[in-house]
Amino acid sequence: MAHRAPLLHFLAENNLQYFPDGVLLLDTATGNVVACGGASALLEQYPQAQVTVHDNALIMPGLIDTHIHFPQVDVIASYGEQLLEWLNNYTFPTEAGFADQHIAETTAEFFLQELLRNGTTTAAVYGSVHASAADAFFKASYRHNTRMIMGKSMMDRNTPDNLSESTEQSLRETRDLISYWHNNGRQLYAATLRFVVTSSAKQMDDIHNLMEDYPDLYMQTHLAENLSELELVKSMYPERLDYVDVFDHHGLLGPRSIFGHGIHLSERELQRLQDTQSRIAFCPTSNLFLGSGLYQLDKPGFDIHTGIATDVGAGTSFSMLQTLHEAYKVCQLNGTNLSPTRAFYMATLGNAKALSLDDKIGNFEAGKEADFIVCDLAATPLMQRRQAICKTLDEQLFALMILGDDRAIRHTYVNGSMSACSAA
Ligand code: GUN
Ligand code: ZN
Repeated sequence: MAHRAPLLHFLAENNLQYFPDGVLLLDTATGNVVACGGASALLEQYPQAQVTVHDNALIMPGLIDTHIHFPQVDVIASYGEQLLEWLNNYTFPTEAGFADQHIAETTAEFFLQELLRNGTTTAAVYGSVHASAADAFFKASYRHNTRMIMGKSMMDRNTPDNLSESTEQSLRETRDLISYWHNNGRQLYAATLRFVVTSSAKQMDDIHNLMEDYPDLYMQTHLAENLSELELVKSMYPERLDYVDVFDHHGLLGPRSIFGHGIHLSERELQRLQDTQSRIAFCPTSNLFLGSGLYQLDKPGFDIHTGIATDVGAGTSFSMLQTLHEAYKVCQLNGTNLSPTRAFYMATLGNAKALSLDDKIGNFEAGKEADFIVCDLAATPLMQRRQAICKTLDEQLFALMILGDDRAIRHTYVNGSMSACSAA
């Protein structure tokens, strides 16, 4: 099986491959990539390949989202608050509803369909506190065969009664979910420490122990998003140097730890994150929506491994294209530029690296799982008009990330097969 259209992917951050008449060749038995390259050479080499031609299209690797909440589909576009009020007034009450299995199952299915409609094939996903809802999510993802990282939120203090759980129950349920779902098909588990405010010190130690027991387990949490949150954490842990030190003290920094936001950090904290190769998920639409602050993507003197993410439902769009658009604006306000090639690198191979999945996804190297999208660069009259005057690939990509959204995703393929959730 082969797909023919202009094709773009990254071999490294500054190493983009573009074939104006490209072919992506798949192994139908495994759904993996056999090769990609220029059509004439590749089709000569594989004359038997059945070719699907995509007109007026661009083939790219599936987009990757490093931070999103599945039970917050209905929280999106909730008016007028910043983080802590937003959590208490909108988010916690909505998440409490996920005790209901019907809500959990139908929302998991909707959420996955919405990701796929937007061209996102992998995400690091937060669940509600309910193990049964996490199980519903994994079942749905398993059915779609999507590569997802997910975990139930662990919250053993400072939560409303209808979301509370004991430290012991949280650990037991998390262990059960890990043993069933972690590395089951394409599913992966992330111990999900919602944020320091809602976890006890004992719970943080439990998560550290889980990570020792399962070296390829992920840990995801929120960090230094909002100034009132910072004050709260300081009042809870006066004995720690700073916010990052709370995690450090419990052995929770490292390359498999993904920290959402990380906007308000000192140089000391940045240095610790860098030294431990911890990851930050930059969530521009969320940071603007909640008024949390402007994440500095390029910090002079630092090289922090940063992924990019939607953070729905504080984030305002499932579309990684819209997320790149807002990231560009955040960089503008910081006095820097986000080039279109860097942006698309971040949303594909860069995010795969942030999630330590670049041996499996993120580009079209032989043997990788063939998650890819067929984009329509002229999906709207305005996009068509703007693309018509683009002179370079950079200009085309920039117009795609500024003007594009779900309408620009014509098809989404998961491990070689077209998802039923594609637009066409
Ligand atoms: N901090 C703790 N929980 C959340 C959440 O659900 N969303 C965001 N944006 N920040 C958080
Ligand atoms: Zn979040």
